[in-house]
Amino acid sequence: MDAIKAIEKRKSIRSYVSKQVEADKINILARAANSAPKAGGFHISVITNTRVLIDIDEKALTAMKNSGNDFLTQRANTPGYRPLYGASALFVISAEKGPYAQATASCSATAVTIAATALNLGSCYMVSPILALTADSGLSAKIGVPEGYTPICAVALGYTESEDAFSTPREAADNINYCE
Ligand SMILES: Cc1cc2nc3c(=O)[nH]c(=O)nc-3n(C[C@H](O)[C@H](O)[C@H](O)COP(=O)(O)O)c2cc1C
Repeated sequence: MDAIKAIEKRKSIRSYVSKQVEADKINILARAANSAPKAGGFHISVITNTRVLIDIDEKALTAMKNSGNDFLTQRANTPGYRPLYGASALFVISAEKGPYAQATASCSATAVTIAATALNLGSCYMVSPILALTADSGLSAKIGVPEGYTPICAVALGYTESEDAFSTPREAADNINYCE
């Protein structure tokens, strides 16, 4: 799939089947994560261990419920809602503390979502798993976040029931102007 098609096809996928993402695809995604623009050090924790994924999912759900934020609380209490949506892999992107940590991690995560789409994998850029890591620093250590780095964002990855999950057309954008 060419890059423009993958960019335009990418959607946040919120339902995954239990099939594992193959190691060669994980490696392509990790390389994509490291191909993004950056302004400072960043680190990618690639999580495919089911027990760790369940731990993050449960702790994120609890953190959302206890967040005091109406949107997060409502979402967490939606029947059947799971923060990781059953994804079989999760990339957590951490960055060195600094003014561009968020931007650097987000660039990397976005590259992963586009590469995933090109591989016909579902993906979802998310911050909810970060709540689990903030609530439990032991969990950050467990997934290999280096000392001095802050977990910023995550990408859920996995196979979807059908490629139709990608096919919802986007609304026409009215947020672009051209200075010619
Ligand atoms: C900063 C940020 C945080 C996000 N966090 C979550 C999240 O925790 N869970 C989730 O399901 N989606 C999350 N999203 C995905 C957005 O909901 C999604 O990108 C947006 O609704 C547009 O839909 P699309 O990705 O399908 O084009 C996040 C997106 C951004 C930019």
